[in-house]
Amino acid sequence: MDLKSPKFNLLFFLICLSATTISAASRGGIAIYWGQNGNEGTLAETCATGKFPYVNLAFLNVFGNGANPELNLAGHCDPASGGCVSLTSDIRDCQKQGVKLMLSIGGGIGRYSLSSKLDARNVSLYLWNAFLGGKSQSVFRPLGDAALDGIDFDIELGSSQFYDDLVRYLKSYCKRNQRVYITGAPQCPYPDRLMGAALNTGLFDYVWVQFYNNPPCQYTSGNTTNLINSWNLWSRSLRAKKLFLGLPAATQAAGSGFIPADVLTSQILPVIKKSPKYGGVMLWSKFWDDQSGYSSSIVSTV
Ligand SMILES: *[C@@H]1O[C@H](CO)[C@@H](O)[C@H](O)[C@H]1NC(C)=O
Ligand SMILES: *[C@@H]1O[C@H](CO)[C@@H](O)[C@H](O)[C@H]1NC(C)=O
Repeated sequence: MDLKSPKFNLLFFLICLSATTISAASRGGIAIYWGQNGNEGTLAETCATGKFPYVNLAFLNVFGNGANPELNLAGHCDPASGGCVSLTSDIRDCQKQGVKLMLSIGGGIGRYSLSSKLDARNVSLYLWNAFLGGKSQSVFRPLGDAALDGIDFDIELGSSQFYDDLVRYLKSYCKRNQRVYITGAPQCPYPDRLMGAALNTGLFDYVWVQFYNNPPCQYTSGNTTNLINSWNLWSRSLRAKKLFLGLPAATQAAGSGFIPADVLTSQILPVIKKSPKYGGVMLWSKFWDDQSGYSSSIVSTV
């Protein structure tokens, strides 16, 4: 078959599309970031807790503008020397348990930006071939053969430009009925300064808004008003499949915005769960959650 024929493209598109309808989970789940502290247990251990249906591997913090992309997994392993290839078996274990794994790109420390639409396309091909379902002989796969489920956007530095293009390119790839999930962690002031345009594509599956380090839209001791108002604005405005409440897993995990577990479960979750887009709670991070036990205190209510 001629791969360029419109008929083939339509078929391909429909296969990708049909896979998008399968995901509906009726109750909420906890998404967690793993990767930025070597003392937070392995990826396999994280999935084996059974508490996290979504795990974001953080971070690919150098990419775009001609840069040689760099994955940083702190003390876990050294991606550059091939030290993280063995994570492939962890990735497969996690996926067998139904956990979705995303590669998180960006973060608070790094060197990343997209210089053009062409650059966005180049980065999308790199992500597809190095971490997702693509296999190109010439691209090294830092996490080995296993394909992650998607890409998480945590764009906190630089410019907002061309991330909408990157999202569109990524979303156009799929293999054997396996589509690419697109997730993101914008800051709670709406719309997000750097990710607003990308979010406006309407192509995000899960959006875990950071309701911390942002006093105007977060919980402040004893007062849920700003947080709930901001959640409602996101819930009304965002075109995405599911919306998550992103929180620090411990007081020390962020500059501000920590919510005691009993306040979350008694005063906040009952309100935000009424939103049709409610997907659950996102926590930063596995390391801090290990210290505080936060996810164990909230998981039955999420
Ligand atoms: C394309 O991306 C690769 C990383 O996969 C990078 O090394 C290269 O410099 C990029 N090319 C251009 C023209 O930006
Ligand atoms: C909570 O915060 C809101 C917004 O800052 C304020 O209007 C309200 O009075 C506060 N409520 C209480 C009980 O302090």
